[in-house]
Amino acid sequence: MKHYLQFADFSADEYNYLFSRAAIIKGKFKSYEKYHPLADRTLAMIFEKASTRTRVSFEAGMYQLGGSVVHLTTGDSQLGRAEPIEDSARVISRMTDLVMIRTFGQDKIARFAEYSRVPVINGLTNEFHPCQIMADIFTFIEHRGGIAGKTVAWVGDGNNMANTWLQAADLLGFTVHVSTPGGYEVDEKLAFGDRQPRAGCYKVFSDPLDACRGADLVTTDVWTSMGYEAENEARRKAFADWCVDAEMMALAKEGALFMHCLPAHRGEEVMADVIDGPQSVVWDEAENRMHVQKALMEYLLLGRVA
Ligand code: CP
Ligand code: NVA
Repeated sequence: MKHYLQFADFSADEYNYLFSRAAIIKGKFKSYEKYHPLADRTLAMIFEKASTRTRVSFEAGMYQLGGSVVHLTTGDSQLGRAEPIEDSARVISRMTDLVMIRTFGQDKIARFAEYSRVPVINGLTNEFHPCQIMADIFTFIEHRGGIAGKTVAWVGDGNNMANTWLQAADLLGFTVHVSTPGGYEVDEKLAFGDRQPRAGCYKVFSDPLDACRGADLVTTDVWTSMGYEAENEARRKAFADWCVDAEMMALAKEGALFMHCLPAHRGEEVMADVIDGPQSVVWDEAENRMHVQKALMEYLLLGRVA
């Protein structure tokens, strides 16, 4: 049994399989072809933080695969009343086939997985957001044909998205140019543990303009992630120069893509003319969450089917 708790949990070969499977599964969806490999299977979705895309993409995706879902939040379950995570894992995983969790610390999802009888998927933690990066890379591949050897510019917070980009670059042979304000850097230890990452898989730039120079993809995220709201005012000041604008896009390669995992704040981390402009692929990116996660759920429950 496999869990998907961080991007580094799968090999490059597994990602190649998942991206090709996602393309096939997306094709079936687009042509209204019924595909129910997960009939009678149930996905439990546990949300301790808000969500639009993750909820809709997992829920719609599971129904499209013939399965069903149970939706739990902290507020309407015993999770919010301090039932131990280990007990919750043992109970929920006896009645369902797959569990997706969005929570705070990565330790919590790791503990859940340890006590779960079924595969567990990370639907976002403070540290990682692997399903989103899988969708982002699938989107890049759809538009540009492959990501190995390419350069991704990360402008903004050294957050869960940034950490996951680092893991992906290490594994899939591309480079991330990271630019964050001082005090909000990425944490190499968090991304790679004690392991030495592939040389040159990421480079740090103090000036976000330098990070964007020559990039094939420019991407950013909110200045304040969920769970960090108390730091909002300090962050607004610190991040003022980390707003993706036309000047940054002009320094990137001609035809470079722009991505944002959403939700976005126009005028903060990205200007409206960028996110709503011709280089932005944010709507494909959001839709692709569903297609890659369908491939992921199929893989975790049925293994390789092709
Ligand atoms: N990108 C993303 O995970 O969006 P939600 O918070 O809406 O799920
Ligand atoms: N970094 C953001 C991503 C939201 C999808 C957060 O954790 O809130």
